[in-house]
Amino acid sequence: MMLRTGIFGYPISHSISPPMHQAAFDHLGIDATYQAWETHPDDLGEGVRGLRDDLYLGANVTVPHKQAVMEYLDDVDDLARRIGAVNTIINRDGRLLGTNTDAEGFITSLIKTHGDINPTGLDAVLVGAGGAARAAAHALADAGIGSLTIANRTPERALALAEEIANQGVTTQAIALSDSGYAGVCRKAALLINSTSVGMLHGPAEEASPVPDGAISAGCVVYDMVYNPPDTPLLKAAESAGARIVGGLPMLVYQGAAAWSRWTGEDAPADVMFKAAEQALRLYS
Ligand code: ATR
Repeated sequence: MMLRTGIFGYPISHSISPPMHQAAFDHLGIDATYQAWETHPDDLGEGVRGLRDDLYLGANVTVPHKQAVMEYLDDVDDLARRIGAVNTIINRDGRLLGTNTDAEGFITSLIKTHGDINPTGLDAVLVGAGGAARAAAHALADAGIGSLTIANRTPERALALAEEIANQGVTTQAIALSDSGYAGVCRKAALLINSTSVGMLHGPAEEASPVPDGAISAGCVVYDMVYNPPDTPLLKAAESAGARIVGGLPMLVYQGAAAWSRWTGEDAPADVMFKAAEQALRLYS
């Protein structure tokens, strides 16, 4: 009996999750499929209800459903509640549990890409205050980050997220991207993360970097959640400044690997998933 998983999104046609997860099932000879379920917001409740059937291991959830999906689930874990978004649903004998593996994907990608980057105790700057930033901020708080400065175009959003993370016991600060002190803040960071869409292919600021010129120090780790293109303006600037860089693809792979493990109860073949994701990305570029 073929088991089923998939992803709810709208639109979803260019998602690289289906080939990435399918490669993992096929590699281990697990009789399961992973499909792209393009689902209009009006149809989300009905789609999620279908997951209670024994055939379904669970699902992923992406834009624009990550918040709205919560009301259709039986349980949402503490991490997903704090982030305010569910990206993974697990079917446990007809009961649906919502979790968020973006945080784990972020931390695992940080540790695994260079083998030795542990965020504990570091002074970090997080650019952006949207959904992706929320996952990273809570992941860093849980990992014992030393301090966290949140920089955003709209300073009110940075402030709100900084206050929330401060409530977790972390020293935080908020700053606007337009603030004259922003470049100085970046220069002092040990870890600098872009969670905005600046630099993204076909995005609103494709050719731009979210960090000012000359504001990256050589000892810094620069992490760009943008995975397409793989060499964003930010990462190019970071490389020439002598910083270590992490692109966005590892986070995508490790959040997927974490979801896959929750569904199957097995270790995910992350290297197989990585290769499949890279190949799919090349097709869509
Ligand atoms: P996601 O779920 O991908 O994080 P989001 O919640 O819409 O998406 O958040 C997008 C983030 O990118 C926000 O921090 C946004 O800044 P604002 O809060 O000021 O809107 C940031 N962003 C998007 N386009 C930007 C641009 N051109 N310049 C700077 N920041 C930008």
